[in-house]
Amino acid sequence: MAAAVPAPVITVVGVGADGWEGLAPAAREALLAAEAVIGAPRQLALLPAEAAAARVAWPSPLLPAVPGLLAEHAGRRICVLASGDPMFFGIGRALADAVGPDRLHVLPHPSSVSYACARLGWPAEDTEVVSLVGRPLDTLTAALSDGRRLLVLSADAATPGQVAALLTARGYGAGRMRVLEQLGGGRERITDGVAESWRHPPGDALNIVAVECAGPRAQLVPGLPDDAYAHDGQLTKRHVRAATLAALAPAPGELLWDVGGGSGSIAIEWLRAHRSCRAVGVERDPVRAGRIAGNAAALGVPRLRVVTGPAPAALAGLPVPDAVFVGGGLTAPGLLQACWDALPPGGRLVANTVTLESEALLTEWYRRHGGDLVKLAVAHAVPVGGFTGWRQAMPVTQWSAVKDTRTVERETP
Ligand SMILES: C[S@@+](CC[C@H](N)C(=O)[O-])C[C@H]1O[C@@H](n2cnc3c(N)ncnc32)[C@H](O)[C@@H]1O
Repeated sequence: MAAAVPAPVITVVGVGADGWEGLAPAAREALLAAEAVIGAPRQLALLPAEAAAARVAWPSPLLPAVPGLLAEHAGRRICVLASGDPMFFGIGRALADAVGPDRLHVLPHPSSVSYACARLGWPAEDTEVVSLVGRPLDTLTAALSDGRRLLVLSADAATPGQVAALLTARGYGAGRMRVLEQLGGGRERITDGVAESWRHPPGDALNIVAVECAGPRAQLVPGLPDDAYAHDGQLTKRHVRAATLAALAPAPGELLWDVGGGSGSIAIEWLRAHRSCRAVGVERDPVRAGRIAGNAAALGVPRLRVVTGPAPAALAGLPVPDAVFVGGGLTAPGLLQACWDALPPGGRLVANTVTLESEALLTEWYRRHGGDLVKLAVAHAVPVGGFTGWRQAMPVTQWSAVKDTRTVERETP
């Protein structure tokens, strides 16, 4: 059988604000030899007249159009223009997904982050980068902590003003902000100020915002103080929450279902574990569901998806979870079974309850599937007259188990 002919390589050329002048010889040669150059109109306009290839402007929206556009020009020498480093928050990701990394030849240019670190004298490895391109503003909240240096990739000219307002609203108004525009080009400009008194009018759409955080320190590990959440009492309290997140054991990229979301604390702390973690909160009460979304934004994880409705019906059609937490509704018929059935082999289930009825159910599931059945009893020291005594919170029964298809149901003795 004849070996398949390898498909031609697509050259991806990173270009900066200095345009054609700033390109390395290899990038210029690739563009001059191309039969089709695909890019944003702004980037295509940077090409000199001798680059005679067909110029194809990216349509909007861009991502869904990528496979069709590449297929249309298949068989030709294609160059794709990208801004800065194509593999850093750039078109390179979509191209690699569409055609496979082996068919890409990427010629990077310094990214706006490299330029910004160069101008500011900030080590890139100690600088956190947050993109607000196509993402909610509160994505930035998760990165705020006293003394941190951040670079924010702006969506447009309005982003710096929005960042200033967010910093002020979240208690970081005293932080220094610098907006770096057109980095590496002839119209480079830096504006400087403090978030709470930021008065600069919107400038260039091509900008990056450097933030020196001054405000509260941010806690990294689960177990945030209870008053970090707006709630009506339906909240898994701090010490039990920390133990619950430990049992759920989030890993990068994983998806959690938080069933009976209440105030959203379990899903929120799952998402804060890593920027690639995903979560769906399911809550039957619409007021609480709204509160979950507010808490998620305030704690920097607006990507939390909230489904309003009663489980198990509301679970239908949700993407397959890696872990499920049941914080409410355990006695709803079929709820625990639906959660268990939704898990793939290796998936984790953790369920908490304070009622004897649900404890009986968890004891039965523990008998059938094993895992860990624990009782978490937390007491707080409080004044008793002139002395101090323990005030016991309701003990929480927690069952946690890993689904393993090889596990044979235990026999009744
Ligand atoms: C104890 S609270 C959970 C607290 C939550 N883990 C937190 O930390 O905010 C239980 C929640 O489950 C919700 N709930 C009860 N049964 C439900 C069901 N069948 N479907 C969805 N939500 C349910 C209740 O409305 C309540 O908000």
